[in-house]
Amino acid sequence: MPLTAPPERPTLLLIHGFPHDHTLWTAQVSALQDVADVIAPDLRGFGPATVVPDTLTMELFADDLRKLLDARRVKRVVLCGLSMGGYVALAFAAQFPDRVQALVLCNTRAGADTDEGRAGRMATARKAIEEGVPAIAKGSLPKMLSQAMRTAKPELAASVEAMMARQPAAAVAAASRGMAERPDRTPMLASITAPVLIITSNMDELIPMSESARMHAAIAHSELVVVQGAAHLSNVEQPTAFNDAMRHFLRKLR
Ligand code: MLT
Repeated sequence: MPLTAPPERPTLLLIHGFPHDHTLWTAQVSALQDVADVIAPDLRGFGPATVVPDTLTMELFADDLRKLLDARRVKRVVLCGLSMGGYVALAFAAQFPDRVQALVLCNTRAGADTDEGRAGRMATARKAIEEGVPAIAKGSLPKMLSQAMRTAKPELAASVEAMMARQPAAAVAAASRGMAERPDRTPMLASITAPVLIITSNMDELIPMSESARMHAAIAHSELVVVQGAAHLSNVEQPTAFNDAMRHFLRKLR
């Protein structure tokens, strides 16, 4: 079946991070409908429990997204990934460059894990199975949202923790192993010809701003936005600034 020509209105595919599901994007999905057709799926294994392989690689997630776009007959897409979602977006761009209209790389990095990082992923995989995902969620929350946010909006912090806690242990373990295996995507950055928006935030301790600056320097058609007053989840903590940056970028694509 032929794929449709690129529409004037871009299709925006939002890719959540780890260990998240599509509800990470609650503050974006309807807010950005005025500038794009927004799709926010659950990555395989996240959201409702499904059977997953031992390792969920970034390439496998990317191929799932390609199938989703084929099913919707979307030829080219604006891919926006946060953190692990950014690893998936880069894997997609490496495998299917002609399907990428533009990229938004949020609070993410291009590099692979260090040996120490890989050992940490294996420990996370074991912990998910042996202790359960709620223990991982509790430990991750202080890095996801700033102390100021957790104090000012405890109900929002609780909903982010609950989103992480409810993810199936098998998927959390398999995606940890998959992240450990991901290659260094730095060499491909210079070959990206699509427009790229890089978003980071000034209080992100999980993936520091320097990682975004490095990607910005390596990608020719890129712009860098630093969201102030947010930790790792810039889109949750500062949705207005995040959405303004997205809207500005998406409008320029038309
Ligand atoms: C995420 O938010 O997706 C994770 O922090 C990514 C990672 O652990 O590298």
